[in-house]
Amino acid sequence: MQFTANSLEHHWMPFTANRAFKKEPRIIVGGEGVYFTDHHGNRVIDGSSALFCSPLGHGRKEIAEAVYNQLLQNDYASPFGSATPGTFELAQKVVQIAPEGMSHVFFVNSGSESIDTALKIVMAFHRANGQAQRTRFVSRERAYHGVNIGGLSLSGIVKNRETFSGVIPNVVCMRHTWDAEQVFTRGQPEGGRELAEDLQRFCETYGGTTIAAVFIEPIAGSTGVLVPPIGYLERIREICDEHGILLVFDEVITGFGRTGSAFASQTFAVKPDLMTMAKAITNGAQPMGAVAVVEEVYQAITEAAPENTIEFFHGYTFSGHPAACAAAIAVQDIYRRERSFDQAADLSEYFLDGLFDLEDLDAVRDIRGFGLLGAVELEATGAPGTRGGAAQIDLFTRGMHVKFTGDTGIVAPPFISQRSHIDEMMGILRAMLEAI
Ligand SMILES: Cc1ncc(COP(=O)(O)O)c(C=O)c1O
Repeated sequence: MQFTANSLEHHWMPFTANRAFKKEPRIIVGGEGVYFTDHHGNRVIDGSSALFCSPLGHGRKEIAEAVYNQLLQNDYASPFGSATPGTFELAQKVVQIAPEGMSHVFFVNSGSESIDTALKIVMAFHRANGQAQRTRFVSRERAYHGVNIGGLSLSGIVKNRETFSGVIPNVVCMRHTWDAEQVFTRGQPEGGRELAEDLQRFCETYGGTTIAAVFIEPIAGSTGVLVPPIGYLERIREICDEHGILLVFDEVITGFGRTGSAFASQTFAVKPDLMTMAKAITNGAQPMGAVAVVEEVYQAITEAAPENTIEFFHGYTFSGHPAACAAAIAVQDIYRRERSFDQAADLSEYFLDGLFDLEDLDAVRDIRGFGLLGAVELEATGAPGTRGGAAQIDLFTRGMHVKFTGDTGIVAPPFISQRSHIDEMMGILRAMLEAI
């Protein structure tokens, strides 16, 4: 296929400046290990694991073969009232690595669907417990919980919601945790307990018994990597417990090793009641998401329904699609065999050293990072996002893919990266930052 303006026209690209892109396309035609190949044949190092999805790098044969074999054996069957074996096997594997006490997994097809599913599970749980008055949800400024109507309602990113009205009305946002006084903090900044008191104030203002759940990304990812300040998640957990509020961790980015443990919940030693995940569950090789819940949540909802009836009126045609399950099972096996989460932990210091070395550059306003997840925030020039957008394109032409959000580049190397790959990434970043 020729990539001309005409041949590109009909695809309405998501979260993309369509008109600009089609004049100057950057199309990925190949992927192997930590490198992509673009349509000019150039090599592009993957500095963001695509969209934080591919810790194992690209082109893994084991995953492709698992999907191929599955499609030959059985391509699809209804997940409603019947089932395919992979769903049970994968649920077991997820429970084995999930925080203790999480016992059941509901499959979906994306992070956004996992959030909307979690919202419904929360509603069903409180209803089953005779607490249907808990209709209020708590989120955070700068939160990103996907783009479906439920997740959008929780969004704290104004650009994602200003066009759309009619979302769930009963959402209140706590403050975000970025602190201008603590720029260039490596790891967790100070002051978490005080920020978490926002939740206590909501309990006092609205009544704790009206609040259904708090949704939190343990590390706020898409807004540009806001690492939770010390004591923050712990205090949120305490307040939730005091008021019977469910705590949902959105681990769509942090899940599957990014912080050095399977989930950030384990890294920060704070247990949620529900956990959403997606992206790296299949290494990005198939669309999939999931919601894991603690036993009490599953029991309350299932026991509330009469015997032999559907307990939870929710599910997607492609919930637990056989090909997605096959990919995810193969990926979980590789994670275990290659000790991928340890790999991430081992590489973290070297990665953060490289990232924080960029601190001296004039174009840089802040650097943040934890595990194998980091952010380089640029000093804004012009309208928000203009400089970041240009930087993303500049980096690509220099041979590196980095996902930008506004003026912040989010760097999240594949776990299989060698130190030389990290050096290459930091070299390209430095060259770009010196040039702009
Ligand atoms: C924390 C978080 N939640 C939800 C989502 C939505 O996931 P998806 O794009 O797969 O719908 C994302 C996507 O980046 C995310 O970062």
